[in-house]
Amino acid sequence: MSSLYTISSSFSTSEHIVVYPGDCLDLLKSIPDRSMQLVVTSPPYNLGKEYEKKLKLETYLEQQAVVIEQCVRVLSTRGSICWQVGNYVDRGAIVPLDAVLYPVFTKLGLRMRNRIIWHFEHGLHCSNRFSGRYETIMWFTKSDDHIFNLDPVRVPQKYPGKKYFKGPHAGEYSSNPLGKNPGDIWIIPNVKSNHVEKTEHPCQFPVELIERLVLSMTNEGDWVLDPFLGTGTSIIAAVRHQRRAAGAETVSKYVDLARSRIEQELAGTLRTRPMNRPVYDPKAAGNSLTISPWIPKVNMEQPILLEKKKEYAAE
Ligand SMILES: C[S@@+](CC[C@H](N)C(=O)[O-])C[C@H]1O[C@@H](n2cnc3c(N)ncnc32)[C@H](O)[C@@H]1O
Repeated sequence: MSSLYTISSSFSTSEHIVVYPGDCLDLLKSIPDRSMQLVVTSPPYNLGKEYEKKLKLETYLEQQAVVIEQCVRVLSTRGSICWQVGNYVDRGAIVPLDAVLYPVFTKLGLRMRNRIIWHFEHGLHCSNRFSGRYETIMWFTKSDDHIFNLDPVRVPQKYPGKKYFKGPHAGEYSSNPLGKNPGDIWIIPNVKSNHVEKTEHPCQFPVELIERLVLSMTNEGDWVLDPFLGTGTSIIAAVRHQRRAAGAETVSKYVDLARSRIEQELAGTLRTRPMNRPVYDPKAAGNSLTISPWIPKVNMEQPILLEKKKEYAAE
């Protein structure tokens, strides 16, 4: 989308990009019924991050239900909602938020199409359970006649040149030359310290994650909505592919960050990790450094490990 577009602070269907500085319910009130093709978000997780107060799980779910109901109202008949969540952690015990939110969506008549597992390598190191290395994207649609464009999001085949060696199709490619369906387990690096997209926000989406959803679930010119916008990633992924996009964010420093990143995207200067780049593999890259998989306790105080130790936390 060209840099001719301006970023509006209030919603109108004549706009192309809207960053609403305030509560998502206020933005949602200004959006007409059935006007959004894709609602994609990672809501506050109720983990007590700096921008959220930790609420009782029931209260959190009630608040989410109010926002979800409004998102369903503004969703087009052929539209999709992608709600990306992790776990609620209560004194070391986890509650998978997708499991407890699932009935909120189905009671509103939505149908689940996929529960996408987003796997990544970086995160807290737990000491009383296995460290969490995935979150989920719950994908729901309003009807069975939903938009789904597979071709723009196909990924390379494992054996791209493979051909039938006998039978009526002998000599022809045995797999789709455009690539294969990416499946429902997505291995995409999360935005941690060394990631090119990292800002001061504690939990950004990688742009490539949202690009895949935008390309497969919308067409050019459609509206994409992120009620919990953070650093503006959903809008960036949408405008990159000629969609219109709106989002709300309550914290003013993140509103400024979102606007600045969207402006960079429009100017073509925003640095992002490209879609479908293979995940960095130190062994394949010829890195001969070997790290013991087991770190004995006695070594934990060695200076080289002190930095690492800071990362260790019992959530
Ligand atoms: C998990 S983060 C989203 C990060 C985002 N996916 C990104 O790529 O940057 C949730 C965001 O929702 C914002 N937020 C919390 N409650 C909100 C509300 N009622 N309306 C709008 N934004 C809200 C928080 O400030 C936070 O930045």
